[in-house]
Amino acid sequence: MSGLYDEFKMKNLKLKNRIVLPPMCTNMANNGFINDWHFVHYSTRAIGGVGLIIVEATAVSEEGRITKDDLGLWDDEQIKGLKKIVEFSHSEGASVALQLAHAGRKSDLGSLENRPLAPSEIGFSSDYILPRKMSKEDISEIVENFKRAAKRALEANFDAIEIHGAHGYLINQFLSPLSNTRTDKYGGILKNRLRILVEIVRAIKEVWPSDRALMLRISADEYDELGNNLDDFVEIVSTAKSEGVDIVDISTGGVVPKKIMTYPGYQISHAEYIKQNSEISVIAGGLVTSVLMADEIVRNRRADLVYMGRELLRNPYMPLTHSKKVFAEIKWPTPYERSKVVRKFGF
Ligand SMILES: Cc1cc2nc3c(=O)[nH]c(=O)nc-3n(C[C@H](O)[C@H](O)[C@H](O)COP(=O)(O)O)c2cc1C
Repeated sequence: MSGLYDEFKMKNLKLKNRIVLPPMCTNMANNGFINDWHFVHYSTRAIGGVGLIIVEATAVSEEGRITKDDLGLWDDEQIKGLKKIVEFSHSEGASVALQLAHAGRKSDLGSLENRPLAPSEIGFSSDYILPRKMSKEDISEIVENFKRAAKRALEANFDAIEIHGAHGYLINQFLSPLSNTRTDKYGGILKNRLRILVEIVRAIKEVWPSDRALMLRISADEYDELGNNLDDFVEIVSTAKSEGVDIVDISTGGVVPKKIMTYPGYQISHAEYIKQNSEISVIAGGLVTSVLMADEIVRNRRADLVYMGRELLRNPYMPLTHSKKVFAEIKWPTPYERSKVVRKFGF
């Protein structure tokens, strides 16, 4: 039986533990480029002992950014900074994935002339610009942009790519009947709504080696009874798996504005259901704030890997400093070795 600090293997991925830093926008980029801030941020989590770092939503095209401060990978020049993060994290024993994204109707770049792209002309809310319905040519271009960005991610030597299919961004907008009312082959029945995802997976696989892991993030609950239900997500994930996706990363919400009732582990049952019914490796999380909670999830086979987002923002060294709580003996980075034993002197 594996625990949180046991290895996880999938294709080229050999994770030293099952703790994942999920993708989290830092909104610190300029023109899509990495800077020192990103390098320090990700390197700190690598030193802190995270097994898998998933670098934040990175736009495949300029107009696909959520905000102007997002990272991007639409230009060869953007490879270098990302590569430096990958290299350093590898030297600390962490694996690194990159989340590739297009914001669709949730793109807010502050310009009123360029309407964001979306499957249908339905705005996310009245606070957002009404999107333009995508033509078949727009769809082909975006599929191509994912492929080009994946090629660049390979040049940067990422261990895995995560396709962002969650949180109401473009792919999620196509998947959901709440945001996709198209009547062509990209809308209507679920098989059609997931066509763009299949095309993106196939395009990425043309450039992404078959021995490198491919991951997909989904929002497995739309918190709306007219939206996709869990069994729809089992079908989506099973199709993605048959196309070559190796791991799914389970989140929820974001496709329509809904108030979500959150509590510790509020998305774990979604991950567990998808793992059982799609027989695919899953990453679960959502208000998981301790290694004890995460260890329980892994040992009871509710998920293969566990992400801790905000907790690792607060506490980047938690994988090192809390390992004893689950009786794991781990190696610390050599320069920190002498701080491993805590002696308390009462002041
Ligand atoms: C500041 C911030 C930025 C985020 N950015 C992204 C992102 O780029 N991509 C993504 O899929 N999820 C993003 N998320 C969601 C997180 O990956 C994670 O799913 C969420 O925070 C719940 O996990 P937690 O309770 O462990 O923080 C973001 C969350 C936060 C707090």
